[in-house]
Amino acid sequence: MNRNAIVKVENLSKRFGDLLVLNDITFNVYKGEFLCIVGPTGCGKTTFLNSLTHLYEPTSGSILFQGEPVDLQKHNITYIFQEYSAMEWLTVRQNVRFGLEIKQQYDGIDKKVDDALELVGLKQFESYYPRQLSASMLQRVVIARAFATQPELLLMDEPYGQLDINLRFKLEDEVVRLCKQTNTTVVFITHNIEEAVYLGDRILVLTNKPTSIKEVIIDDFDRPRDITHPDFVEMRNRITDLIKWW
Ligand SMILES: Nc1ncnc2c1ncn2[C@@H]1O[C@H](COP(=O)(O)OP(=O)(O)O)[C@@H](O)[C@H]1O
Ligand SMILES: [Mg+2]
Repeated sequence: MNRNAIVKVENLSKRFGDLLVLNDITFNVYKGEFLCIVGPTGCGKTTFLNSLTHLYEPTSGSILFQGEPVDLQKHNITYIFQEYSAMEWLTVRQNVRFGLEIKQQYDGIDKKVDDALELVGLKQFESYYPRQLSASMLQRVVIARAFATQPELLLMDEPYGQLDINLRFKLEDEVVRLCKQTNTTVVFITHNIEEAVYLGDRILVLTNKPTSIKEVIIDDFDRPRDITHPDFVEMRNRITDLIKWW
């Protein structure tokens, strides 16, 4: 793996009043890697992404993107929120186009929209409205919207929470393929350990609040991964033991 750090998180802490959520967290995200962050519900995963994108100000410490404080106007970072959605009043095509419009990426916009729709297999549904689509198609709209902007850094916050398991694996395969094809750096948040082992190049395991990094695990199984393989199961069980939040 190319060890060129694209994001540097240094001594990051975030508190809300008396509640210390992130407690002195330091790590790097490397160019082109698929980094999964796994931790119990409420440990501060969303808070971390919100701090990274400056929706929240860190209480202390810093997060740098290519050596600078994150600036969403300047840096090509795309954030798929935990409660993502497609805009009901826009067609599939318009939804994907909207992602480029808000980033003011008008150059070659129609071609970019075409390519993104092609990538997720929604070209023939481009004039449909969200209410006419299945959950998996909706998810693809959101993915296409994110990929159309060709982000250097893609942040995904538990994007597959609502989907059934078979669909999840299928979309996960697609996302990994797209990211590897485009050398996109991804920070993928989940509380689902199996999902993290399935997707990640590395897995950051978080503790309960006040949250620190329990362990960083290298996950270099060949892709696509076999969730029944003994090595896969062993890693999944090891992370489960590390967390034990129940
Ligand atoms: N804006 C906020 N104000 C106060 N507390 C917050 C705010 N955002 C998150 N929290 C608290 O921070 C903790 C971490 O929340 P969150 O980052 O959403 O967890 P996760 O995404 O890991 O489930 C929770 O205890 C939550 O109640
Ligand atoms: Mg969350």
